[in-house]
Amino acid sequence: MFRVFPDPSSIAEYVSAILIAKIQSKPDTVLGLATGGTMEPIYARFVAQARQSKLDVSRLTSFNLDEYIGLSPDHPKSYAAYMREHLFQHLAFDAARLHLPDGLAPDLPAHCKAYATRLRASGGVDLQLLGVGGNGHIGFNEPGTAFDCPCHVVELAEQTRIDNSRFFAEGSIVPASAITMGMAEIMEAREILLVATGESKAKIVARWYQQGVTEAIPFTVLKRHPRAMVILDEAAASLLPDDARQPRMLVSG
Ligand code: F6R
Repeated sequence: MFRVFPDPSSIAEYVSAILIAKIQSKPDTVLGLATGGTMEPIYARFVAQARQSKLDVSRLTSFNLDEYIGLSPDHPKSYAAYMREHLFQHLAFDAARLHLPDGLAPDLPAHCKAYATRLRASGGVDLQLLGVGGNGHIGFNEPGTAFDCPCHVVELAEQTRIDNSRFFAEGSIVPASAITMGMAEIMEAREILLVATGESKAKIVARWYQQGVTEAIPFTVLKRHPRAMVILDEAAASLLPDDARQPRMLVSG
């Protein structure tokens, strides 16, 4: 269910190798993609490894988890811009196969429905990458979101806006709302890798470990998924009880 690695770079190595193997065995893989600080070293490692192994990504399809409402894809802080910067511009993807919610959609509920429909029509996500918020959110499914909630518009939690203000210039305002893939679409992915790194995730990871499955901590829902793995670095795992940390023996060295 979970593994502990020494640091973010060994996680990047591990997750990147999984992605490469997946795409090699199924070139038309559908990936569910996340943004955020956690994913940056993972995408950097993936790009390097993909180049080295001359990986063909042209048939790959992707669906991003979320996008801020009110930001155009050209806005430097949009998740569309993040994806271009960290992943899409570096490899020969087919742009028509790369999907993100549209933060400027005039009819947001209709757009959410259409996004979920397009995702299902693609055959569904083979491998979903997730980060986790300091409050346990996945995508932007904030605490209290129903587990069967589909793609929707969300008012961001105060903590999420504070956490994400580090990505915005001082004085500029973090958008108050976003479109997010729902818990329902996330749980339909055939395989899920959730990555949590750094001390700032240690408290929520410890709560995730101690609690049952609860909507108050959205990522506890992964305990119900048959093929979900939570990947931690030592800092994120630092508040887990000692006996819980045994699985790291599986990956030491
Ligand atoms: C981003 C996303 C969020 C982040 C989470 C962690 O697309 O869906 O759930 O994964 O907020 O963000 P970082 O990695 O910046 O700590």
